[in-house]
Formats: sequence, structure tokens, C-alpha cells
Amino acid sequence: GAAFLGMMIIAYLLGNISPSTLLAKAKGIDIKSEGSGNAGTTNALRVMGKKAGAITLVVDVLKGVVAVLLGNLVCGHLCAMFCVLAAMLGHIWPVFYRFKGGKGVATAFGALLGLNPLLALAALAIVIIVVLISKRMSVGSIVVALLFPVLCKFLEPDFVLLGSMLAILIIVKHRSNIARLFKGEEPKMSIFK
Ligand code: G3P
Repeated sequence: GAAFLGMMIIAYLLGNISPSTLLAKAKGIDIKSEGSGNAGTTNALRVMGKKAGAITLVVDVLKGVVAVLLGNLVCGHLCAMFCVLAAMLGHIWPVFYRFKGGKGVATAFGALLGLNPLLALAALAIVIIVVLISKRMSVGSIVVALLFPVLCKFLEPDFVLLGSMLAILIIVKHRSNIARLFKGEEPKMSIFK
């Protein structure tokens, strides 16, 4: 009851922590109006370079890990599964940044690491393969989201429903990327240029 609800709020607030927004602000820029306009690792890398990209990745992954491990500790596995979604919702729609966050991929990865490392690493392997082939992070994110319900079915069956919601969230957040991909206008990741 109360522990579950409290934990959802904590996971959501952890998701709010936005390294890309803060790093950009420190450099006097607004990440929401640079590059893809996304407060995430790929855009931090694109707009601010490798160091900012790496810090963003580590912090966005870690907040997911912490949210889910804490959730598991406080109120168990079912609660931890909901924490995955709560942390993602906090990252995508942060109350502290006028509900303008990222697309949830790094945070989802971290949260999944906390929930089921094998599931997280299987997803990571797919992302790495697809990104190496396509040279675009968005393609990796979209493909892994499409395959994710199947991965859950094999590796974490009780997470299929919530995992499908996670996948839908990620795909919906990639609408602009999908439009650019169809127009042939999605830029390669800056590390491949
Ligand atoms: O996780 C976000 C990534 O898939 C795409 O980011 O900035 O290229 O839209 P971006």
C-alpha cells in the first residue's frame, strides 16, 4: 500500500534527475533546442561531445538501477517491476523540467539491469548489433523496443505486460526519429561521422 505508492514516487523523482539538461545548462545552452532537442545520451554526445555523453549515459543508467534495486528492497519484485516504468516516466516527463525529458532508453536499460541483468544484457546486445549496422542510435532503440516483449517472454515472463508498455513508450517517444528515418534524414551518430 503506502510503501508501494511511496516507492513509485521515489522512482519517478529519481527518473527526473537529468544530467544532459544540467550539463547543458552549465555550458549555457538549452539541450531542448539543440540537435534532436532530446534530453538524453545520444543528444548530449551530439551537442556537447563524448565526455558529456558518457556522464549522461552513466547517470541516466544509474538512476534506473537505483530506483529498481531500492524498489525491490522496500517492497519486492512486483514493486520493482513497476519502478522500471515509474523511473522511465520520470525521465520522459519530469515534473522538474516542465515535463520535457528524454526518450527513456538509458534509464530503461539501468532499470532492467536492476530487475534482471540477463534481460538487460540481451537488450544491450541487440542495441549494439543494430547500432553498429545502422550507425543510428534511434534505429537500435526502436528495434530493441519492438523485440522487447519477446525478450521478456523468454527471460522475465511476468514482465511481458509492463515490458510491452515500456516498449510502446520508447516507440512513441521516437516518432520524430521514425519520421526522419522514412525521409532519409536521420543523422548518423556523431561517433560514426
Ligand atoms: O535514446 C534516444 C535515441 O534513441 C535517439 O536520440 O537524440 O537521436 O533523438 P536522438
